[in-house]
Amino acid sequence: MNKFDLTGRKALVTGGARGLGAGMAEALAQAGAAVMIGDVLAALGRDTAAKLSAGGAKVGFVPLDVTKEDDWLAAVKATIATLGGFDILVNNAGIEVTALVADADPAELRKMLDVNIVGTMLGMKHAFRAMRPNGAAGKGGAVVNISSVAATIAFPAIAGYSATKSAVDRLTRVGAMEAGKLGYGVRVNCIYPGLVPTDMGMKLATDVVAAGLFASPEAAVGAIVEQTPAGRLGEVSDMADAVVFLCSDAARFITGVGLPVDGGMGM
Ligand SMILES: NC(=O)c1ccc[n+]([C@@H]2O[C@H](COP(=O)([O-])OP(=O)(O)OC[C@H]3O[C@@H](n4cnc5c(N)ncnc54)[C@H](O)[C@@H]3O)[C@@H](O)[C@H]2O)c1
Repeated sequence: MNKFDLTGRKALVTGGARGLGAGMAEALAQAGAAVMIGDVLAALGRDTAAKLSAGGAKVGFVPLDVTKEDDWLAAVKATIATLGGFDILVNNAGIEVTALVADADPAELRKMLDVNIVGTMLGMKHAFRAMRPNGAAGKGGAVVNISSVAATIAFPAIAGYSATKSAVDRLTRVGAMEAGKLGYGVRVNCIYPGLVPTDMGMKLATDVVAAGLFASPEAAVGAIVEQTPAGRLGEVSDMADAVVFLCSDAARFITGVGLPVDGGMGM
């Protein structure tokens, strides 16, 4: 048996309309899972789901704002109704607001806390409730939270973002502890992706120029590559494959860890 095979698993990927989440949805589907994409971008999310389904995979879309509890209730219900179960959650949805500490805007900061921390916490909450014994899905499962290399290094102008991703790391550990000790049958892990040139990654590269830290986005990217022993930026598939691994039976004795997927940048 291929221990990385996810045939029969049912996954919900938040923020799966584009970027890393879309790649994770694709990789999970390629590994055999049925997948629901949950996102605030409904048109793009439906489009991404349709494209992945065209390859023969079972991929659906459900509108989901991860900061809204009612949306979580509906998304979990739709996942179970559409896919016939729910045993993988990838808490990927996130936003990044670049600002020097001296320029921090409280409203922007609170928005980021809401999506990255509250959204991740609510995802774990509703996954635990559905996956634990006697839950609506009831078969245990795996949660993968998406933290960031930003939780492990000090890079200028991302203090607020780094704080939210450090919080995701701690949510992961405590969630894993509770899920284990309380017999939920759910493993909880997170990954720390390095910089990947998605919409978010490229915006960061231009924002740090606007903050006066680099002469150009290319110089910013160059500095990051320079700090990375593997000598390149991350790719979507680098992150997606790590998620597949952590969801699979190959990771059956792994819970409560944060896995750097950053080419060594955070070592
Ligand atoms: N790209 C990188 O370099 C990088 C590095 C480390 C970590 N990350 C993390 O990976 C995750 C994905 O990043 P990405 O680069 O694909 O970003 P992205 O901006 O390209 O995509 C993020 C997705 O999340 C969705 N989203 C945002 N707010 C949401 C909400 N409230 N509810 C539901 N969906 C919401 C967006 O609509 C979008 O589809 C994020 O958590 C990010 O912090 C990214």
